[in-house]
Amino acid sequence: MEILRTATDLRQLDKWRSEDNWRSEQPLVLVPTMGALHPGHLSLVEAGAALGPVVVSIFVNPTQFGPGEDLDAYPRDLESDLAMLEPLGVKAVFAPSVTEMYGQPGEVTVQPGNRGQGLCGGDRPGHFSGVLTVVAKLLGLVRPDVAIFGRKDAQQCLVIRQMVEDLKIPVWLADGPTVREADGLAMSSRNRYLSEEQRLQALCLSRALHSAREMLVAGERNREKLQAALLAELSDADKMEYAEVRLVPDLEEPVAVSGTVLLAVAARVGPARLIDNLVLDLSSGGVKDGFLLGDPQRWSGK
Ligand code: PAF
Repeated sequence: MEILRTATDLRQLDKWRSEDNWRSEQPLVLVPTMGALHPGHLSLVEAGAALGPVVVSIFVNPTQFGPGEDLDAYPRDLESDLAMLEPLGVKAVFAPSVTEMYGQPGEVTVQPGNRGQGLCGGDRPGHFSGVLTVVAKLLGLVRPDVAIFGRKDAQQCLVIRQMVEDLKIPVWLADGPTVREADGLAMSSRNRYLSEEQRLQALCLSRALHSAREMLVAGERNREKLQAALLAELSDADKMEYAEVRLVPDLEEPVAVSGTVLLAVAARVGPARLIDNLVLDLSSGGVKDGFLLGDPQRWSGK
């Protein structure tokens, strides 16, 4: 596994691409992360490795953190991240410095379209511009055929999908499911901020989603009733930020709850701002897990 630090180092990828043992039909896969890896990230890497050589980027991107957010506290442990990636057969890790990724003040940034309004975009002004700007840079630097993101950051997935479509960026996007602890808590690098007691309190997010899902399974399609069920459970958090039922991919508030639906919650528990969601496909009349970008197993070739 190579550790690449700069744009120049990344040109090593072109050398590999031209080598005989690089099967030309295999896509180069990028899994972008901010490190502090957990089994959720590793499942994305595994999904990518089933398709072709994987590059994992590890970069705590300062521009997606707002003033007063946890940029300084965000866990950084490159050595332990590398130890987790090595056994998965990752081809390379791209771990640039801030100065490698960002130049002078006043440089070009990418602004989200309509999908970046509301939800986390409302609570974290500037967040999605930071995400899109760094993802555009990573896609330009690595030039992957496929990029895989975690479904847990549902709005992020949809905002990135809109950027890729609108800016005609030649990459195929896929999303991998949220990985949960045995008790339902969605895995997140920010769970490290929680005490034992707060960790139990944080279960209200997955409980909220579970109860709204059960209502959908029982045939409930009234948005207000579903949102009320989400809100009722979130009263256990220290501060509820949002509890929403939205449509995929444009995140409109549905008049009729149908098609692919996002149940999304965000709340503060102790020092952590936590998010969780379910993406549910109601199109067959039943309730199935849905995708926001694409099923990695459905990559159909270059
Ligand atoms: O989801 C994340 O870890 C980050 O937002 C991403 C996509 C790596 C951009 O910094």
